[in-house]
Amino acid sequence: MNQTINTILKHSSVRSYTNQAVSDEIVETLIRCAQASSSSHFIQAYSIVQIKDQTIRSKIAQLLDNPKHILEAPLYFVFVADLSRHKRISDYHNSDMASLESEALLIATVDASIAAQNMFVAAESLGLGGVYTGVLRNVPNDISELLNLPEYSFALFGLCFGYPSKVNEVKPRLPIKEILHIDSYDSTNSLLNLQEYNEVMKEYYSKRSSNSKNEIWTEQIANYFSKTLRPHMNSFLKSIGFKL
Ligand SMILES: Cc1cc2nc3c(=O)[nH]c(=O)nc-3n(C[C@H](O)[C@H](O)[C@H](O)COP(=O)(O)O)c2cc1C
Repeated sequence: MNQTINTILKHSSVRSYTNQAVSDEIVETLIRCAQASSSSHFIQAYSIVQIKDQTIRSKIAQLLDNPKHILEAPLYFVFVADLSRHKRISDYHNSDMASLESEALLIATVDASIAAQNMFVAAESLGLGGVYTGVLRNVPNDISELLNLPEYSFALFGLCFGYPSKVNEVKPRLPIKEILHIDSYDSTNSLLNLQEYNEVMKEYYSKRSSNSKNEIWTEQIANYFSKTLRPHMNSFLKSIGFKL
């Protein structure tokens, strides 16, 4: 084990922060770490909007029923899956940008996500804690308008960071045997693995220091997927230029 691995393995989302400000030097380091990530075809298909203005922060929070962590985090970055730059580049070179289909959506989403996760690990290594906020996609049109996002770009999620005032216990992950397949996919023991995991999660949920509950993980997942997830996303993505 080394320090990087320890940082990664002790991850848990942090939603409560002290008032301690985060220095500009750290902010710049976080941005540089995000930018250091790999990028599909080196297209670098993301932008980051740092929300510094408290009025804009409050407006975002209001649109989302006021999550405390979004209102109070010393740092809030909105990660934008962004192909608008590539449109500007195409125009600059008098080249037609082909219609943006599923693959374009995937590469922009992947680029933005791995940049964010690089930033996340860097932040945790510096003693910060944070949480992703995919809840932004509840109201994608409002967020686009508020942040002045151009066509071919959309807010994928936000990242809150600050010095933790409360750290949650690490959540147990699925057993390795459930997610790791050697040479070909084998789901023969999947249900057994999941039942075993239900027990582990049941114990975790019942014993954790806050928000303890009596829930079955697979039931939560079945409930979650019993409804269409954010059904407005399809028409939203079409409205900003994607052909899905
Ligand atoms: C893309 C993404 C979006 C998320 N959106 C939210 C969110 O809107 N609100 C929230 O409280 N947590 C959000 N989370 C945090 C997850 O709930 C959390 O990572 C998960 O429960 C595992 O817990 P852990 O991060 O503490 O290990 C999000 C995580 C990811 C990766």
